Amino acid sequence: MKRRDFICGAACFLGGIGLSEIKNKLNSPPKPTITKPEDYPKLEDELGGFTVCLATHCNLNCKGCDTYSPLAGKGEFITIEQFTKDITKLKELAPEREFHFAFLGGEPLLNPDVIPILKLKHKLYPNSNSDLLTNGILLNTMNDDFWQTIKDSNINLCITKYPINIDRTIYEKKAQQYGINIRYDIPRANKLFDINTHEVISEDYEQDGFPWGKNIIDLTGSQDYVEKRYNCHHIGYTHYCRGNIYYCYVHAYIQSFINYFKVNIPITKDDYIKIADVKDISDIDRFLSVPKPLCRFCKQCHNTCYGGNPLEWDFSKREITEWT
Ligand SMILES: C[S@@+](CC[C@H](N)C(=O)[O-])C[C@H]1O[C@@H](n2cnc3c(N)ncnc32)[C@H](O)[C@@H]1O
Ligand code: SF4
Ligand code: SF4
Repeated sequence: MKRRDFICGAACFLGGIGLSEIKNKLNSPPKPTITKPEDYPKLEDELGGFTVCLATHCNLNCKGCDTYSPLAGKGEFITIEQFTKDITKLKELAPEREFHFAFLGGEPLLNPDVIPILKLKHKLYPNSNSDLLTNGILLNTMNDDFWQTIKDSNINLCITKYPINIDRTIYEKKAQQYGINIRYDIPRANKLFDINTHEVISEDYEQDGFPWGKNIIDLTGSQDYVEKRYNCHHIGYTHYCRGNIYYCYVHAYIQSFINYFKVNIPITKDDYIKIADVKDISDIDRFLSVPKPLCRFCKQCHNTCYGGNPLEWDFSKREITEWT
């Protein structure tokens, strides 16, 4: 059994780990003429970590957001009750596994249960490596219990530094006071925006970093989804959302895109697995090991992120072309 490394932050979305490993296993990827799961070439995987979707919506609304959060309206939260049920069940099913966690969304700090959720994770998985990814907007409003929980739970605080005028000195001081290291993930940008009016407040601005881009949805659903299983570098970054386990962020969040644009993208029972229905941890491992029909609608290409389509960072206008 192979256990995939699970790294978080933008690097997780942008990185290409495990790809050559996968390619070495299978030089000629199969075509979707294979219809029976038992006929798929074996590519064993096991649940080693997952991102926890704390909220599907967001308070920033970036153009072409990977998680379709500008389209999510009021969105959905995972509650402490649901998290308790699911995480306790996983612990019972696989007591020996130390999962890696990444708490994100959408914007995770919008979830009113964020503190008890982080505390419970630490209680059940005190040695696991965990990250919290946030846009930082709400950090100045977080109370001492939040900062103490981040410290006590060994959570890596990963803040995406968007080109917006927020005061970062207040939370940086708080983090320093609690002995918390902040990791900044920096998207490339050459304009600074006002967070309230969305107007450009400086054209004379430069931040170098990872490229912003769009991951293209293929509305015709004609992508080779079996081939994606073997070549898409997003596989291995399993997502937990609404009590379900999903292959990747597209599968976990695409419902917001479907609802907003009223497009016909079917999410079938083969595309997710409900933790409440799992009888054995190998059910999830098997689920992660086989191709998923929903990948027919995603143009994510091999090796490159966002199908090579760069976008300039800006606020979303909620136009379908940001994702197609
Ligand atoms: C989906 S966000 C969720 C957490 C939080 N709202 C944030 O933005 O940090 C996680 C990461 O995905 C990256 N991301 C999302 N959409 C992207 C895009 N279209 N291009 C590049 N990176 C993107 C973000 O920059 C962030 O580092
Ligand atoms: S901050 Fe931007 S990238 Fe992160 S969830 Fe919100 S809209 Fe998406
Ligand atoms: S939908 Fe499929 S092809 Fe697209 S990112 Fe997810 S796993 Fe990769």
